[in-house]
Amino acid sequence: MLTVTGLTKVFKGTKRSAAVTAIGELDLEVNQGEFLTLLGPSGCGKTTTLRCVAGLERADKGEISIGGRVMFSDSSRTNVPPNQRNIGMVFQSYAIWPHMNVFENVAFPLRVGKKSMSKPDLQERVHRVLDIVGLGEIPARYATNLSGGQQQRLAFARALVIEPDLLLLDEPLSNLDAKLRESLRFELKRLQREQGITTLYVTHDQTEALSLSNRIAVLSAGKLMQIGKPFDIYLKPEGKFVADFVGNTNFLEGNYLGHAIVDTAIGKLQVSSTEGLREGQPCTISVRPEHIELVEATAPDQPNTFHGEIETRLFIGEAMDYQVIIGDTRIRTKGAGAIGDRFSSGQAIKVVFPVERCVTLSFKQ
Ligand SMILES: Nc1ncnc2c1ncn2[C@@H]1O[C@H](COP(=O)(O)OP(=O)(O)OP(=O)(O)O)[C@@H](O)[C@H]1O
Ligand SMILES: [Mg+2]
Repeated sequence: MLTVTGLTKVFKGTKRSAAVTAIGELDLEVNQGEFLTLLGPSGCGKTTTLRCVAGLERADKGEISIGGRVMFSDSSRTNVPPNQRNIGMVFQSYAIWPHMNVFENVAFPLRVGKKSMSKPDLQERVHRVLDIVGLGEIPARYATNLSGGQQQRLAFARALVIEPDLLLLDEPLSNLDAKLRESLRFELKRLQREQGITTLYVTHDQTEALSLSNRIAVLSAGKLMQIGKPFDIYLKPEGKFVADFVGNTNFLEGNYLGHAIVDTAIGKLQVSSTEGLREGQPCTISVRPEHIELVEATAPDQPNTFHGEIETRLFIGEAMDYQVIIGDTRIRTKGAGAIGDRFSSGQAIKVVFPVERCVTLSFKQ
């Protein structure tokens, strides 16, 4: 539906600052009805990408097309103005109009739009969209008298009312407190699924990305690091950057010995994937804290079992975080619920690294 090819955007330097390549040769494809998230740290080019797609920023190179229609192309010098791209947008500060009531806020994009609408049609459309976002009961309420969550829903309604081909959302939940953010996450997911609307979402919050998206594109410094389903991004990160940025992880450096065995500082570790690895080659293994098992020191050995000692334990409510020492190596583990409460600081234990959760990372990142 949305195709981005070779997109490059450089912000020119000034006397005091160097030029910044905000996006470098980015390729991206968002399918019809898909919810795709751009995830990455501050300054990696997420907003710039969105603004280029919306036509608010002019890229230097590349091509952007929506539904087969070329919206931007440097080679054919095409640049369709923002209001002719049929895109709905919600930004971080959602800028609803305080001097208008709920109904008028949503009706506004239709009133200024190209196609003039009859009054009954407009009324019908606005009320339908207000019902979708759960504001149907309070059309006459002034926008300033809405709660944060209601303002956010109003911003969604305004984006949806033009029946966009594509919805662009730039950290739309970031202004809200943690509880509200969580509940609106569910609503947003439901809304998107029910409306089947193609969505390009931006966040630097990995939980948000993992829970909402059909696919996630992880960006770093204007480059695409990995694109895939949330499960694969989390369980099969391709490089150190993705493994570290999306969730917490332990890295173990080692040398590949062949037969899916890596020699590391804690000993020989059997790993799940060895694609592209040659014998004798250095490599990094990523194992997530919640995948590591701690067992009694007397428990029978399974594959990938090592002797260790609990250094520190931290109760974090939903789970128990442990720091474990194996030889000279410090490992972080996380046990949920009652299982996590078994061990105390200084206790000798055994540490099990499940083979299928020991992922070798490529060196390209
Ligand atoms: N108008 C501008 N002029 C110069 N540099 C800019 C401009 N807009 C963005 N940049 C730079 O381009 C890079 C990408 O910025 P962008 O706003 O796209 O990041 P982001 O991923 O959205 O970050 P955040 O998560 O903080 O919102 C940054 O280094 C930023 O400083
Ligand atoms: Mg941004």
